[in-house]
Amino acid sequence: MTGKDEYYNKAKQQGYRARSAYKLQQLDATASLLGGGSTVVDLGAAPGGWLQVAAEAVGPGGQVVGVDRQRIDPLVEPDADLAYVRADVTEVETADEVRAAVGGGDRPVDTVLSDMAPNMTGENSLDHARSVHLARQALELGTELLSAGGDLAVKLFDGRDLAAFETDIEAEFEYVRQVRPDASRDASSELYLVGKNRLTAPVRPGDELAVEIVDVGEEGDGIARVEGFTMFVPGATEGEQLDVSVEAVKPRFGFAEPIRSTDGEPE
Ligand SMILES: C[S@@+](CC[C@H](N)C(=O)[O-])C[C@H]1O[C@@H](n2cnc3c(N)ncnc32)[C@H](O)[C@@H]1O
Repeated sequence: MTGKDEYYNKAKQQGYRARSAYKLQQLDATASLLGGGSTVVDLGAAPGGWLQVAAEAVGPGGQVVGVDRQRIDPLVEPDADLAYVRADVTEVETADEVRAAVGGGDRPVDTVLSDMAPNMTGENSLDHARSVHLARQALELGTELLSAGGDLAVKLFDGRDLAAFETDIEAEFEYVRQVRPDASRDASSELYLVGKNRLTAPVRPGDELAVEIVDVGEEGDGIARVEGFTMFVPGATEGEQLDVSVEAVKPRFGFAEPIRSTDGEPE
């Protein structure tokens, strides 16, 4: 039996609207995207296979917002709060419509998914370029909507602009990985880029800046605040002013090392 038949038949038997439901299950198993009680925005959601999987995973207390330019038949007795936005993701007004649908606009978004696909022409380089265009719209909306620590998973077709796009996702998240679900058709060049842990910090690894140590953490590290963001500086003492180099950035804090002159003293 081919991969297509296996997942197509399974979807029919298990009541999923699309075989792609298994891709989201596999993405979630690989990259932990759907936590209980979380808020998920699903771009390119029709006919609703991913909505079914996401609603099951987030459960009561969770919310899923499905966005598509095509109409989505509402799910019957969904496990989570569901909202539907009929809109084109490439239109500027769509961000406001999605924001309004997410818990009235002020509920933090934990995960943004995109399974959007262009109308296929069969010409690989064109289909790739169009898929990257849609994926970039998803990244833009994702960086706008996601709270610190949130995750993004976007579909695109493999091709020349993959590496550059991956670098752009990496700039906004703690790390990025490529996932090719088993449920994708054998001959397909589709893959998903997953950005984990959205960074909203004003600094990035490699940045050098002058800071003042304003506090000391439980482990004894000096603490500096950069635009309200907490940076731990090992070995620094309260009241010290020094130049540091940012070593690592997490969603809610970062680490920096004092920049030492050649004699080992802080500069
Ligand atoms: C592969 S299907 C998604 C299947 C879905 N994940 C599921 O499990 O049922 C791709 C969807 O992307 C939507 N799409 C493509 N471009 C879009 C755009 N610019 N704005 C909104 N939706 C778009 C299409 O209408 C289509 O429904």
